[in-house]
Amino acid sequence: MNTIRDAALAPGGRLKIDWVREHMPVLRGLAGEFKTTKPFAGLRVAICLHLEAKTAYMAEVIKEGGAAVTITGSNPLSTQDDVAAALAAAGITVHAWHGATPGEYAEHLRLTAQSAPHLIIDDGGDLVTLLHTDYHHLLGEVRGGAEETTTGLIRLRAMVAEGILKIPVMAVNDAYCKFLFDNRHGTGQSVWDGIMRATNLVVAGKEVVVVGYGWCGRGVAARAAGLGARVIVCEINPIRALEALMDGHRVLTLSKAAALGDIFITVTGCRDALTGEHFALMKDGAILCNAGHFDIEINKGDLVRLADCIATVRKGVDVYEIRGRRVYLLAEGRLVNLAAADGHPAEIMDMSFALQVEALRYLNQNYGRLTAGVHPLPPDLDEKVARRKLEALGITIDSLSSAQECYLTSWRQE
Ligand code: ADE
Repeated sequence: MNTIRDAALAPGGRLKIDWVREHMPVLRGLAGEFKTTKPFAGLRVAICLHLEAKTAYMAEVIKEGGAAVTITGSNPLSTQDDVAAALAAAGITVHAWHGATPGEYAEHLRLTAQSAPHLIIDDGGDLVTLLHTDYHHLLGEVRGGAEETTTGLIRLRAMVAEGILKIPVMAVNDAYCKFLFDNRHGTGQSVWDGIMRATNLVVAGKEVVVVGYGWCGRGVAARAAGLGARVIVCEINPIRALEALMDGHRVLTLSKAAALGDIFITVTGCRDALTGEHFALMKDGAILCNAGHFDIEINKGDLVRLADCIATVRKGVDVYEIRGRRVYLLAEGRLVNLAAADGHPAEIMDMSFALQVEALRYLNQNYGRLTAGVHPLPPDLDEKVARRKLEALGITIDSLSSAQECYLTSWRQE
């Protein structure tokens, strides 16, 4: 039984999946292999991810691998109802719809957990944490999970520190082919896609404040500069702050940057990056948005408390009038790249999702050998995805001669 908005939307969703499939050659290669190898035969796989076309294609590849797949969205605003309908029509169990209320979102997650999965793909840790709380009795069957985001890994590592995590989880986010491309180039492009679609305003000449200079922040700041903005970075980590400076950005405290910014983007992974003390300093027309996993980086409670008037001025754009000045919040403070656009480009998610599929295969192959905890993805899998991507792009690279290999493995200088 599916929990979707409208099954009749399936044809439109299928067109979207077909489009991204064309641009995901590494995943396509895995699907080709799985036609005969069926590495997930007889297994149940549960997925909690942004339910848009790239995710849908990955779910289909896992199904091609022989699994019974159940999927839910990892954010109520990133689910696309036509894609959900297309997946349901293709025999995948779907519990998700766009704009789910907090209660509906929780119910969709519960229905997904109730599929009693052997393997899990999670984005933000909601499914794994639910299985460790309300569905503890199902953990015995779980062979492992794979986590997509920085935020999810922070939660999982907190569970490890408290001795609570009972399954092995692969830290897909920490693989090179994930964070170097998805976090940096994917977020860098898709955040601007979301901001531009939501506002239809120019970026060139604006003062852009990027709050947080992790891999996502680096990408967002670099693309802002490329679009002609002047970039201010706010950071709490001294090394990252120096890096931002030497990357050519201005580095300021948030209390200084608050009065200068035209567009603010939070990418910290932490709560309360922007609060009432900052909103009170902002200029008329300032635009706020978030690209961190949860909608806690911009304190919406403070915005509501300070506002004399709140209204929706355009799809995905709410105005908060604070002492005669207008502050605009995009996508309700949720991930702007997924709530106001389609997420990262397909060519980028090709690598992230190939890593996810490889992580599931690795968990299954090593079932019984991996301890409970967070595990790095083996480097050979990371490299395999990079090689396949290069191959698909028609790019060949050099290799070491045997004399060079000898040199690099010897301490003698001959
Ligand atoms: N599409 C599906 N999952 C995504 C993610 N975690 N970030 C951006 N785009 C996505």
